[in-house]
Amino acid sequence: MRLAVYPGTFDPITRGHTDIVSRSLSIFDRLIVAVAPNPRKGALLSIEERVELAKIATKDFANVEVESFNGLLVEYVRQRGAHAIIRGLRAVSDFEHEFQMALLNRKLDERLETVFLMPSEEYSYLTSSIVKELALFGGELEAFLIPEVAKRLREKYGHETR
Ligand code: COA
Repeated sequence: MRLAVYPGTFDPITRGHTDIVSRSLSIFDRLIVAVAPNPRKGALLSIEERVELAKIATKDFANVEVESFNGLLVEYVRQRGAHAIIRGLRAVSDFEHEFQMALLNRKLDERLETVFLMPSEEYSYLTSSIVKELALFGGELEAFLIPEVAKRLREKYGHETR
């Protein structure tokens, strides 16, 4: 059983993230979506909400678990007995940051591989920040978010009647 961990802040989980989940499952038997607290980023949603929404967004995939983790990613991956880290690579601009993280993680545990997957091009420009900005100004969200996540963001920004 090949197990991979897909870590991220997921504030909130988008259709771009679930696209990566789906692609990961064509390579790995099981996947853990691992939600990081990432206080540096000043998340809109609490860690519990991010886990809850990620569970809803991935409920139709077999062999996917969602949980939060604290501390170093490599330690969490080791503790879960996973074989690889999955990261989405959307554009060249992602590369430097991802390259740095992958090499640092490999330095911390040389057996650990990071697997980069490209989301469908329709999501290649998507970020959680862009989606939050759209929500803030009452924009249409359904192309980027599943309805439950879109609803939660509207509630957060006081647009719950749309
Ligand atoms: N579709 C849509 N958006 C996507 C995406 C996709 N397929 N893939 C990435 N993104 C977006 C995210 O939504 C996020 O957007 P935002 O910046 O607007 O919030 C951005 O791309 C990247 O953020 P994220 O996936 O959350 O990654 P990150 O660069 O913030 O790193 C961790 C998150 C959890 C992997 C990293 O912080 C970590 O490993 N933390 C644990 C501590 C540790 O071990 N540190 C050392 C690691 S080197």
